[in-house]
Amino acid sequence: MQQHSTRTPASTSRAVRLESFGGPEVLDLHEVPAQRAGTGQIRVRVTAAGLNPMDWFMTSDAETAARFGLSLPAGFGTDYAGVVDQIGDGATGFTTGDRVYGGALSRAVADFVIVAAAGTIAEGGDAHHTPDGIDDRTAATLAIAGCAAAAALAVVDPGPGDTVLIGGAAGGVGVFAVQLARLAGARVIGTGSATSSDFLRSLGAEPVAYGDGLADRVRGLAPGGVTAAIDLHGTETAQAARELGVADARITTIAAQIDGITPANGANAAPGALEEIARLVATNELRVPIAAHFPVEQIRAAVELQAGRHVHSKVVIDLQGISGARRFPGPGAGATDSAGFVWR
Ligand SMILES: NC(=O)c1ccc[n+]([C@@H]2O[C@H](COP(=O)([O-])OP(=O)(O)OC[C@H]3O[C@@H](n4cnc5c(N)ncnc54)[C@H](OP(=O)(O)O)[C@@H]3O)[C@@H](O)[C@H]2O)c1
Repeated sequence: MQQHSTRTPASTSRAVRLESFGGPEVLDLHEVPAQRAGTGQIRVRVTAAGLNPMDWFMTSDAETAARFGLSLPAGFGTDYAGVVDQIGDGATGFTTGDRVYGGALSRAVADFVIVAAAGTIAEGGDAHHTPDGIDDRTAATLAIAGCAAAAALAVVDPGPGDTVLIGGAAGGVGVFAVQLARLAGARVIGTGSATSSDFLRSLGAEPVAYGDGLADRVRGLAPGGVTAAIDLHGTETAQAARELGVADARITTIAAQIDGITPANGANAAPGALEEIARLVATNELRVPIAAHFPVEQIRAAVELQAGRHVHSKVVIDLQGISGARRFPGPGAGATDSAGFVWR
């Protein structure tokens, strides 16, 4: 378990901010006044913040940002884990010192974040108690990707006897989706590049290369047929599943929409789904490998890595008091780290 210590006075907070929309180059670390928890809110001293594609997608240009209600100057990052350090009037369910994780839309990469004690990621932010047995880096990966995977699984409802094709299976959502489908008793075939094969096998999936000819390769692996599909990258997997005769009702997408196919959205995950994922992680029935973690000062390098879209599992930003922070740059171009990520 990580040790926590407060290094920054609670009156100020380092926060990643952007004063213009764009790529990683617009991200800077600022010293800002630390807000106090208001009515119905708690303040969390953030120890770790997990990255997701939505973080850099929604801050990439003004039009996209406006769709998410963001204006400049904006914060960055949504998934967080940490410790409650202040309770606002009327906020219930939490005590100072509680370990928590959750989502705070585009403001999580900061020493302190204010969230509603009973909110949603998009409305006020949310918080969940971190179970014993989950370290903060791992807790900081759960909310967005875990809910998206749970929502996708709920659409196709895999079980014993199913063969599920999962596209983009080695990514942040993929690690959850593959393992949840396996825990449900299904056989899983996961798409990835050649460098992802061993990683996919380690999660319990049979790897298959994405790209032209996907349906034929899947047919070769599963002559008996595929019964469900989850496309976590775009539309290729969903289209291949249709080609393989999978019924539209048993296909879902999370990153694109296709007429006739029900998309899944993490915001619609069933109540309790995230807590169940956290329980599975705490009991080691589901694991979330951390591909890389960066000190907050290296936010631009971390986002560049995540935005390359070839990370296995999750990238995490270390904030206050997290122990064992590995300093990046990583092992050097061409090297492969413990999660199988090849540094370029
Ligand atoms: N609707 C929602 O609620 C929701 C929630 C979370 C995420 N999302 C969206 O879902 C998508 C996946 O999120 P994520 O966090 O899993 O992303 P991610 O971690 O960045 O995904 C990286 C993975 O994508 C794979 N990949 C790269 N190119 C691919 C291709 N052409 N075909 C198939 N896979 C490919 C990579 O595999 P290789 O390394 O083997 O190339 C890598 O493992 C994103 O678009 C994200 O915005 C939606």
